[in-house]
Amino acid sequence: MGVGIIGIGKKTADNVITNEDLCKIMDTSNEWIVERTGITERRIATTQKSLDLAVEATKEALEGIDYDSIDLVIVATITPDMLVPSMASLVKMHLGLKNAIVFDLNSACSGFVYTLWTAESLMNASFEKTGRKINRALVIGSERISRMADWTDRGSCILFGDGAGAVVLERREGETGIITTFLKNYDDVNQALWCGIEYEPNPFSGDEVSPPRTLQMSGIQVFKFAVTAVNEVMEQVLEYAGMDADDVDFYVPHQANLRIIKSAAARFGQSLDKFQININTTGNVSAASIPMALYDAVKAGKIKEGDTIMVVGFGGGLSAGATLLKMW
Ligand code: COA
Repeated sequence: MGVGIIGIGKKTADNVITNEDLCKIMDTSNEWIVERTGITERRIATTQKSLDLAVEATKEALEGIDYDSIDLVIVATITPDMLVPSMASLVKMHLGLKNAIVFDLNSACSGFVYTLWTAESLMNASFEKTGRKINRALVIGSERISRMADWTDRGSCILFGDGAGAVVLERREGETGIITTFLKNYDDVNQALWCGIEYEPNPFSGDEVSPPRTLQMSGIQVFKFAVTAVNEVMEQVLEYAGMDADDVDFYVPHQANLRIIKSAAARFGQSLDKFQININTTGNVSAASIPMALYDAVKAGKIKEGDTIMVVGFGGGLSAGATLLKMW
């Protein structure tokens, strides 16, 4: 029994913001950003909501697939347009996915890997019990991180961009798709990645101090965490599968910083050519980053049918995870 990818789609946000554009509104330089992060430009949504991005990516992923056959939709996001209804409910309503069970999942920049694992687990579990079978699922990452960024903090806002990516999963007899997944959560005791929500005070409690509503980040702490966590989850998922790094045809890591990707390639003795890199034009798109990178790799012909690939995510929580899968 296997769960694999049968459709993929992507939508980038409408407005290209280059490093030079950022120089006009803050004290930074193209050289600093490129050298420290690998980013030259990112897309920022001006007219699109997170839902618009999710819907467009999903439509592309569903090309040639019967909408009524979708049993499950999970949207990985930390920037939903609203808390209620969930983004997944809005996507369902917007596209008329009448048979789908839907919900959102928040695991920050690891969101796509956690959502892939959740969908695969639910699909398999549904066949072990009587009742509703989940044969096809949509896994979407959609973000408007630009709404959450602190645009007065040059140490963090330069990293982020907006966009969405989506994949359609199918469960098939006798085929290997997802091989295995390793997830790990760490405690963010130092508040290295932190962003609050502001609620109205209620009449029964005193004034609470709301945490900041923009993303507060300790770059150096997150960098150290990321390098360690990526190594750990990559090592563990390979061990689970009884494989080594050379057995993997292509790697699709979360696009947070080119230096983090280079460090992983070096640590596992792999050529950087085996790693998808599009952070230069996307920035960090959080939960949308991996499906967008996967899309670009597939469309560029870097990933072929039958290839073994690894997707690797890390981010707020703190959270990290890696999945090995065979491409259909
Ligand atoms: N332009 C110019 N200078 C900047 C700058 C900017 N945009 N942002 C920070 N600086 C300055 C700092 O003020 C500091 O100056 P100082 O030495 O005079 O105090 C100097 O550059 C070094 O800052 P530092 O924060 O130590 O840089 P860094 O090498 O750690 O790079 C990040 C910063 C954010 C690029 C890096 O830490 C990083 O990528 N961390 C991981 C972030 C991440 O992945 N987050 C998402 C996780 S999913």
